[in-house]
Amino acid sequence: MARHLITSAIPYINGIKHLGNLVGSQLPADLYARYQRARGHEVLFLCATDEHGTPAELAAAKAGKPVADYCAEMHGVQAKLAEGFRLSFDHFGRSSSPQNHRLTQAFAKALDEAGLIREVSETQMYSPEDGRFLPDRYIEGTCPNCGFESARGDQCDNCTKQLDPVDLIDPRSTISGATNLEMRETKHLFLRQSAMKDELEAWIDTKADWPVLTTSIAKKWLNDGDGLQDRGITRDLDWGVPVQRGDEPWAGMEGKVFYVWFDAPIEYIACAQEWEEAGKGSDWARWWRTDAGADDVRYTQFMGKDNVPFHTLSFPATILGSGEPWKLVDYIKSFNYLNYEGGQFSTSRGRGVFMDQALDILPSDYWRWWLLSHAPESNDAEFTWENFQSSVNKDLADVLGNFASRVTKFCRSKFGEDVPAGGTFGDRERQLVADLSAKIGEYEAHMEAIEVRKAAAALRAAWVLGNEYLQEAAPWSTFKEDPETAAMQIRLGLNLIRLYAVISSPFIPDASAQLLEAMKAGDADWPSELDADLQKLGAGHAFTVPDVTFRKIADAEREDWQARFAGTR
Ligand code: 2FM
Ligand code: ZN
Repeated sequence: MARHLITSAIPYINGIKHLGNLVGSQLPADLYARYQRARGHEVLFLCATDEHGTPAELAAAKAGKPVADYCAEMHGVQAKLAEGFRLSFDHFGRSSSPQNHRLTQAFAKALDEAGLIREVSETQMYSPEDGRFLPDRYIEGTCPNCGFESARGDQCDNCTKQLDPVDLIDPRSTISGATNLEMRETKHLFLRQSAMKDELEAWIDTKADWPVLTTSIAKKWLNDGDGLQDRGITRDLDWGVPVQRGDEPWAGMEGKVFYVWFDAPIEYIACAQEWEEAGKGSDWARWWRTDAGADDVRYTQFMGKDNVPFHTLSFPATILGSGEPWKLVDYIKSFNYLNYEGGQFSTSRGRGVFMDQALDILPSDYWRWWLLSHAPESNDAEFTWENFQSSVNKDLADVLGNFASRVTKFCRSKFGEDVPAGGTFGDRERQLVADLSAKIGEYEAHMEAIEVRKAAAALRAAWVLGNEYLQEAAPWSTFKEDPETAAMQIRLGLNLIRLYAVISSPFIPDASAQLLEAMKAGDADWPSELDADLQKLGAGHAFTVPDVTFRKIADAEREDWQARFAGTR
């Protein structure tokens, strides 16, 4: 039994996430966690809300609420939506937790003791009109790298370049729109990432198996221009982790907080502490400290491509620089963007389908299947309502749902609601078992490699094999001359439903549970010896006909949604 630590990038607290966010980290992370659990491995799957920094402050201000209240409320909203999408986190934490405060301050102390922090007096954008400094998202302007006009002070959403507010062309305050900004002197802590460049590069060079998307972004930031830059890890903000050296004050840093991108990844560790303190498990250190057994852990992170520089460079710099025995990530799975009907999903513009809206329309499995089977892996992908309708109708309703319905209804009408006795496997059945074994082997290999689209395609192909078998064996015709053989065929069909429920559970957990219940399957063990696995439901085993597993989406309905979601939220 292996041990898998799995984390999804922690979503910003500032509102409900859209489907593009979901498929870029939380959903594929859930797929992988469910798969590894189903294979019998020990899994710790963590996610949290990212509650600090300018996104949180700006959203709270917009909602007219104190930021702490806003965060508490939105954490509840996001947790509920995560449940709605069946995201099986072992814990959904909060980066504002006391655990994360302590850990972040402790990391800063360790980094300082290792000589990796320097104090810098610098001039920063100050807005007299707003009466404050304007870090990160408090400022917008034109990207010096690609010319995108709404680049934020910390990063350009268009080209993913990490920015400094002073880099922006024609900067303006996002609070008041003020452009009469001035430069004022302020003191900040910088993490000396440049001193760690060689160590980081050597570490990344050991990761030949990482997706190209991940390593190419890492390499770009390591070697572009003047190479890896030192990074400011403090901000002039009120909300966040107060700058302290462990539990001691940090002279000259009074009233400042750590930068959100410094404390957010540390929450991956703090979240395990929260998990333990919430009584959900024991011994967080066994997952995170190599001096407490975490050497055996395989740690996989999931994220969108804009997050890659922070996870390949900044967070590893924190971990390695601390000189302490923390677990480093083993594999980083990153995703391109999902677009929406010819444009971008956009939270700020309310464009696209958001998690709450999606669940209002259809159950989560419909979305999970479409999103995962179209995950933006090698390229950006696009959501269109036509494509969504056709995938749901073909893959889920026609192939899987229809199979379960035909087999169970036919059995009920001819043999009753018990698995019928009679007949043994013939050539056609042996061929099916061989084909299915090969397909499931492919499916497993893609799941191990986290090739999400390929895994979905292999799973669908396994469903198709069952349909083709049913079509050729045609038990409804066989029954007329040879009810014994028809009974064997339908017994195999019922066992296939059970098999599909088991292997599909990482993608469509609700449908899978429904089918397992209908089959009254005693266990949901992953298949190992397919021949035997397809005889698990033996003669006399009772089952029920499931309710419609997947319904079709009608054209009128699709057109209605298309119109409803054409504008902005
Ligand atoms: O891009 C985002 O949504 C960030 N909140 C991700 C943070 S991941 C991490 F570092 F914790
Ligand atoms: Zn840009």
